Amino acid sequence: MNILFIRSIEGRILAGITMFVGMMILVGWVAINEEARMQSFVRQHTGRSIERGAELYASLCSECHGEEGYGAGDRAPGLNNPHLFGFDPVGLQTAAITNANRALVRLNKEIDRLLAELTDAQNPPTEDRQNAILAEIAGLEAQVEEQNIAINAAVTERITILETLETAVENGLFPLWDTVVDIEQTGDNEVEVFFNNNGTRLAQVGWAGDLHGYVVTTLIHGRPGSARVYPNSTGMAAWSQTAGGPLRQDQIEDLAAYILNWDKGENWTTEDFIAVAQYGKPLADGSLPSEPPPPPAGDNVAGILLRWELEAVVGSAVSGEMLYDQEFGCTDCHRDGASAPDTIGTATRIRNERLTLPQFAGYTLEQYLIESITRPGDYVVDGYSSGLMPVNFGLRMTDQQLADIVAYLLTQE
Ligand code: HEC
Ligand code: HEC
Repeated sequence: MNILFIRSIEGRILAGITMFVGMMILVGWVAINEEARMQSFVRQHTGRSIERGAELYASLCSECHGEEGYGAGDRAPGLNNPHLFGFDPVGLQTAAITNANRALVRLNKEIDRLLAELTDAQNPPTEDRQNAILAEIAGLEAQVEEQNIAINAAVTERITILETLETAVENGLFPLWDTVVDIEQTGDNEVEVFFNNNGTRLAQVGWAGDLHGYVVTTLIHGRPGSARVYPNSTGMAAWSQTAGGPLRQDQIEDLAAYILNWDKGENWTTEDFIAVAQYGKPLADGSLPSEPPPPPAGDNVAGILLRWELEAVVGSAVSGEMLYDQEFGCTDCHRDGASAPDTIGTATRIRNERLTLPQFAGYTLEQYLIESITRPGDYVVDGYSSGLMPVNFGLRMTDQQLADIVAYLLTQE
């Protein structure tokens, strides 16, 4: 009896251990495979959504937008279309020209300043100084020449690319390109403005959100007035049940998933451009409802940096400069160092002076800039009054605008 009792205790312990070990193995196995399982789940889910979207597309959309999404003449624009997906065939060249033009402005300003010093009758420079100034001007003029060469090279490259895309241009890529060719000869800055505003479909229609939002909003509300722009079409209808159309929200999402699935990222080719039968035209007035404005960046520096990373927010120095000069009036104060630190040299100054201060140990340049812009009271630059720089910029700008401004300031060496 005694022996039996012990045996059964031993047996139970053994069974307990076996079960415990078994469970640990199971937990471990699930943990190891969870990530892969989730990914494959997401893939299957997205895959099914795309499949359902493809069926809806074939029955409801292809008659106007074409079976393969290339669009048709005066009927509807192509959706399987690099321009719609934000692939700008001359984007690199346009950016190079814009940057070189900006450098030219800076160099010419510097030359003007030196010339003014050289010819200052009130305060004539010494002969040594005159020679130094002349040497400096010669150096700057060599740089001007380099920038001009860079601009000419990029302009030529851009024309070559546009020539290979002639069919696409005829089919509506870069509308008004003809008028631009004329300007091109005069080398007017308007050419750059044109390409900066027309390089992608979203820039062309002035859509601040992303492509998913653009497609979904278009599907929900349709484009009132678009039949006038596309004479062989009854126009883009409002498809959502919320706007009196036939589709549920999940079906609209399936359609968007199908369309976005055409994206080739950086791998769009000239053939893809030429395959599009009709590019998007300028919109009829008021036909595109704007998205609700994106939330402001706020003043939580760590949170902002994390969102930038998760949402892959990338700043554009070109937009940043406009926001800095115009929309937010930063230049009004940050002009010459009198009432606020000078814009020129911001990046250098932060790297060499601010970040060597103990309280900024471990800071990145971005981090310092975000903090200066959204929480100016946290640290006040020596020699300037506290409370002068407005404290509410974080509430007035979006993540994207803040990133643009930071990108611009990072170019200020
Ligand atoms: C009767 C023809 C017609 C049908 C059917 C149609 N569309 Fe359109 N669609 C248009 C026209 C025309 C435009 C251009 C609107 C404009 O320029 O404002 C357009 C624009 C769009 C756009 C925006 C493209 C851009 O570059 O601005 C999307 C996205 C779109 N349609 C998706 C769809 C989907 C998805 C379906 C099927 C549910 C569909 N359309 C059915 C005619 C149609
Ligand atoms: C009303 C004047 C004023 C305006 C407008 C203003 N600032 Fe400032 N800013 C200051 C002053 C003064 C300082 C230095 C004192 C301080 O640190 O707060 C400063 C400091 C900074 C610094 C830190 C510079 C350094 O060398 O460490 C940055 C970056 C900055 N501002 C960016 C901006 C941006 C971006 C805008 C526009 C969105 C802006 N400022 C608008 C007055 C202004």
